[in-house]
Amino acid sequence: MGIKIRQADIHDIQAIQNANLHNLPENYLLKYYMYHELSWPQASFVATTYDESSLDEEINEDLKFEDPKGDTAYIRKGEKIVGYVLAKMEDDPEAEDKTPHGHITSLSVMRTYRRMGLADRLMKQALYALCESFDAKYVSLHVRKSNRAALHLYKDTLKFEVSSIEKSYYQDGEDAYAMRKDLVLEELQPHLIDGDQEVDDFEKDLLEDL
Ligand SMILES: CC(C)(COP(=O)(O)OP(=O)(O)OC[C@H]1O[C@@H](n2cnc3c(N)ncnc32)[C@H](O)[C@@H]1OP(=O)(O)O)[C@@H](O)C(=O)NCCC(=O)NCCS
Repeated sequence: MGIKIRQADIHDIQAIQNANLHNLPENYLLKYYMYHELSWPQASFVATTYDESSLDEEINEDLKFEDPKGDTAYIRKGEKIVGYVLAKMEDDPEAEDKTPHGHITSLSVMRTYRRMGLADRLMKQALYALCESFDAKYVSLHVRKSNRAALHLYKDTLKFEVSSIEKSYYQDGEDAYAMRKDLVLEELQPHLIDGDQEVDDFEKDLLEDL
């Protein structure tokens, strides 16, 4: 059983919505997920587990997008979504700030897969994609004042800064921290952000033999 991070695609949308319903009180209509995927297909990512043994099996096309164990996280045989980040570019024509910038709409990781670094990796992939593909100069998000796990991730791990406090931002009346982080492509390169990813350094390999 392995875990991989990859770009989200249209077939993942239902499972992303299910994960969102499971993990967060802020939910969206399916068409809003579609809108993200169709407008900014490079920006959203999923963490999936895949059962290596099932990858060897010949996948029957009819079964491909079936829900093998009645588990709504499955997107195809042997692969299920355990985390996602849904990201977009700010596209509100009435927004005051015309600087191109991204926004993190939603992020969550299924409970049994938390504290393994998945949210960190999902976020870093999304930040890189927003900057590289859409020239985002910064990225913004909202987080509940009481959400200690997410605040640690954003503030301490990813170095976001609080830009303001939005009173009663959430439906239940809780305040939000509005946070932002400036994006600099060179600092977001995948080989710098994904420490456990092996880099194929051809020149170094050659020199090692000397
Ligand atoms: C917030 C959330 C996405 C974090 O996911 P995760 O995969 O467990 O996070 P990571 O393993 O990548 O951890 C990133 C950092 O946050 C820290 N962290 C994670 N959970 C934490 C917790 N419960 N309390 C304190 N710190 C926590 C980790 O220790 C790590 O810190 P480090 O870089 O100093 O080592 C996850 O808890 C979740 O899905 N929560 C419910 C949904 C949610 O709140 N989404 C955010 C909405 S704004």
